[in-house]
Amino acid sequence: MSLAAHPHVFPFSVAPLDAPAHGRTRILIVDDEAPVRNMLRMILEAKGYDCRTAENAAAARKELEAQSCELMLCDINMPGESGLELTRFVLATYPDTAAIMVTAIGDPMVAESMMTAGVYDYIIKPMDRNGILISVANALRRRELEIANRSYRRDLERMVDDRTESLQRSMEKLEGAMEGIVSAIALTVETRDPYTAGHQRRVADLAVAIAVEAGMGSDQVEALRMAAIIHDLGKISVPAEILSKPSRLTANEFNLIKEHPQVGYDILKDIDFPWPVARIVYQHHEKMDGSGYPLGLMGDHLLPASRVLTVADVVEAMASHRPYRPGLGIAKALEEIESQAGRLYDPDAAQACLRLFRHRGFVLE
Ligand SMILES: [Fe+2]
Repeated sequence: MSLAAHPHVFPFSVAPLDAPAHGRTRILIVDDEAPVRNMLRMILEAKGYDCRTAENAAAARKELEAQSCELMLCDINMPGESGLELTRFVLATYPDTAAIMVTAIGDPMVAESMMTAGVYDYIIKPMDRNGILISVANALRRRELEIANRSYRRDLERMVDDRTESLQRSMEKLEGAMEGIVSAIALTVETRDPYTAGHQRRVADLAVAIAVEAGMGSDQVEALRMAAIIHDLGKISVPAEILSKPSRLTANEFNLIKEHPQVGYDILKDIDFPWPVARIVYQHHEKMDGSGYPLGLMGDHLLPASRVLTVADVVEAMASHRPYRPGLGIAKALEEIESQAGRLYDPDAAQACLRLFRHRGFVLE
């Protein structure tokens, strides 16, 4: 009776059934009965196998320490450590060694525990020569397949790891390039408008700090940072003399300025950012009560990131100098946020902003 499973077919070359897998295949025969050991040795050596014998588990362990083997034929019932215990140890310690058990009784329960232990097959005494040779050849063949399979899987895992790493590097490169491009765009806008140079960067720093303080997720924070750095990109369409006009703007001039969220959106909307950067830019002058521009959207229709950006933009703009007025100072800016929280500004974003300056020591650059 044989428990040897039919091996799956793998794309590896395998030795013929009736020959050792390669060169002199080493087999360790463990049995307390000398006649059984000698008979097995004779049969297997006649077939070209390189055999060693051991009379008990302790001797078998010593043999294996001295030299590993491809296959162990092991008696189940021996004085001292049982054959099954020894086999469990061998299979765990030498994963490239296959095992066949030799037993006097064909007990299904014993057979099952042997299978669970990872034994390939078992031979029932009295043994016949052909049965032994077929069982040994089958076990060696299955061992070859399993070793090849393990190495194939290791190669595959290594390949997947390598690919993942190179993909990760490409991603980092692309992200770096995207950041560089976005910074270049930001600088282009600010070159035309020296009074607001650094405005977008400072707004981005504050917006990110507010978002983190308000407990927004890392994805939202990243989206906000990217959008904030270029939120005034649309000012590229506003004549430079209007941007730097040292006196109050006329209604027409202000209307031109008010187009910048739309212009920014139009420039960005077809870029496939991983976040809704264009929409955040589009909404950065909207207010919670619908009194903002360009669309006059109400709070529920505004992206959370846009609401934070609005607060950061107002604080930075009020605190800084403008061509037509000196800076109003941070205290005045915070007063505006506090008094209009919930009406013009998102209450959570407003509170987070106030906490930052009043309790966390945040300062605008
Ligand atoms: Fe703006």
